[in-house]
Amino acid sequence: METNLSPDYWQTRYKNAQTGWDLGAVSPPLKAYTHQLSSQKLKILIPGAGNAYEAEYLHQLGFTEVYVADIAESPLQALKQRVPDFPAEHLLHQNFFEIQDTFDLILEQTFFCAINPELRPAYAKKCAELLKPGGKLVGLLFNTTFENPGPPFGGSAEEYRVYFEPYFHFRTFAPAYNSVKPRAGRELFMILERKEN
Ligand SMILES: C[S@@+](CC[C@H](N)C(=O)[O-])C[C@H]1O[C@@H](n2cnc3c(N)ncnc32)[C@H](O)[C@@H]1O
Repeated sequence: METNLSPDYWQTRYKNAQTGWDLGAVSPPLKAYTHQLSSQKLKILIPGAGNAYEAEYLHQLGFTEVYVADIAESPLQALKQRVPDFPAEHLLHQNFFEIQDTFDLILEQTFFCAINPELRPAYAKKCAELLKPGGKLVGLLFNTTFENPGPPFGGSAEEYRVYFEPYFHFRTFAPAYNSVKPRAGRELFMILERKEN
């Protein structure tokens, strides 16, 4: 297992174009979910956003409070070039665990599976800290194991429930029905709502 998941590790993956996780577009489940959102003023965080196609999509739809965070600089620069009018101050070149702010919504797309599994409880806690009461953590988690050493690191719904239960109400936590083909049957779609306290 690759344990030294440093900014350099990720930056090198981008520099060498070793980005097998990159769908090149917003994932269908997140695309469908964004169509249900009530307000374009929702403050949204996409952590470990990489090339952040979700951010680009939301921006095109008129959402004005979308923030992306990544510890690697290359994908943030790439987003800047692709979408020059995306607000520069919303590009956070920062470790997710050190972000100090609050949001209405966090979108998860192959970030959770990229962190060292030992950090999973801390991920759940940090998401809860970053969300306003009633705020939502929405996205995809792999519901499978991988043969090769991670990242990506797999897991199961049963495992993940334990991390999120202390902080979230489970609104949806079920196999995704509209995953991209290579991930079909191997992803959970989650809508978790932060508990009041
Ligand atoms: C597997 S990639 C997924 C990127 C993107 N979400 C996607 O689906 O294409 C994981 C991303 O998380 C970033 N990352 C890893 N650890 C991070 C951390 N602690 N804080 C912020 N970003 C991190 C990496 O640089 C990388 O861009």
